[in-house]
Amino acid sequence: MVGVLVKEFANGVMLPAVSLGCWQLYGDAPSTPVAVEAALKGGYYALDDAQCYNNEHVTGPIVAKFGKEEMKKASKFDPSAEGTPFKVVSEAEYFGSFEKPHGKPTDDRAVFVTTKIWCSNFDPAGIRKQVEQHLKDFQRSSIDLLLLHWPGNHVAWCQDESMMKDPKNAETRLTCWKTFEELYAEGKVRAIGLSNYMVQHLLPLVEDIKKRKDAGCPKARMPFVNQIEISAFCQVPEALEKLCKEYDITFTSYSSLGSAKAVQENISDKAIQTIADKHKVSPANVLIRWCMQKGYTVLPRSKHPERVQANYGPTLTFALDQDDMNAINKMNLDRRTGSNPHDIA
Ligand SMILES: NC(=O)c1ccc[n+]([C@@H]2O[C@H](COP(=O)([O-])OP(=O)(O)OC[C@H]3O[C@@H](n4cnc5c(N)ncnc54)[C@H](OP(=O)(O)O)[C@@H]3O)[C@@H](O)[C@H]2O)c1
Repeated sequence: MVGVLVKEFANGVMLPAVSLGCWQLYGDAPSTPVAVEAALKGGYYALDDAQCYNNEHVTGPIVAKFGKEEMKKASKFDPSAEGTPFKVVSEAEYFGSFEKPHGKPTDDRAVFVTTKIWCSNFDPAGIRKQVEQHLKDFQRSSIDLLLLHWPGNHVAWCQDESMMKDPKNAETRLTCWKTFEELYAEGKVRAIGLSNYMVQHLLPLVEDIKKRKDAGCPKARMPFVNQIEISAFCQVPEALEKLCKEYDITFTSYSSLGSAKAVQENISDKAIQTIADKHKVSPANVLIRWCMQKGYTVLPRSKHPERVQANYGPTLTFALDQDDMNAINKMNLDRRTGSNPHDIA
């Protein structure tokens, strides 16, 4: 069936299984609007963006141009849900899901956008200010998916080690999460989640949410998503996988290709190449599809329109078999390309 491959959350929100990653699509680079337009014309239904990518003033107006009629003209695929926990829905059903859970948006929305709050805004006023800026940039009445970008101060933001080990982090995480719950209750956000949360950060938070839920607090809400670095060579720690499963939290894989640092090494891996040849797809398609069949939504990124395309259609329309999955499951090297969230207290 020609349609959209989605992860449907319990509140009816549908997150497309594949979004275009927008990190390092620089706001002042001529390649950025070209890549984003290529993605939307080429059939992507979603973008993964963030305040700290400093490009929402560019991506927002482009997305705003792609309403339902524009998106209907985009390339269409017959995606395969084989081996994944996702489902294929018609384009009309997907468009209809933008009315969940708060009713019809005032804008003509057809593209799902994720954004993330950077650590410099980890307080209620900072979060609200950024939410308003995002809504202005995208000319929207609500955010599709809002994430806390890191569980504390990111290493790039820290003048010294003590900032990452700030003893107030746990309290800050809870305050920020309660602000997210408020924004959800106000209808400003359709789904809320986390990014880079390891067990040490997630467990106390979900325990607090559960306690408040059990006490009948109507606003208490579990995260829908935890977006973390995952690839064939950097697989999810077992304890984190188990915890997210227990609370029905979906993983999104970032840097599934290995980011700029490791992409060449990962796509040159002999075993990955053999699997790619068997299915007549590229090694990049194999790396992305493995994530999808593990149940993780994905965000491949490229500034080149031809790669934006090559990473999409073939990945959506083929499936790895159980032998391929078993072989890749054994390739973990804990080879992280980004900062290590375990370092954050
Ligand atoms: N939540 C977080 O903290 C966090 C952290 C990192 C990333 N993310 C999100 O996840 C997205 C993806 O992660 P990522 O950007 O780190 O890396 P990625 O998607 O794993 O890899 C991107 C790199 O691969 C290259 N590439 C893409 N397709 C290719 C292909 N078919 N063949 C060869 N090279 C290819 C790109 O170069 P060209 O552009 O030159 O093609 C770029 O250097 C980000 O854009 C962002 O949206 C989130």
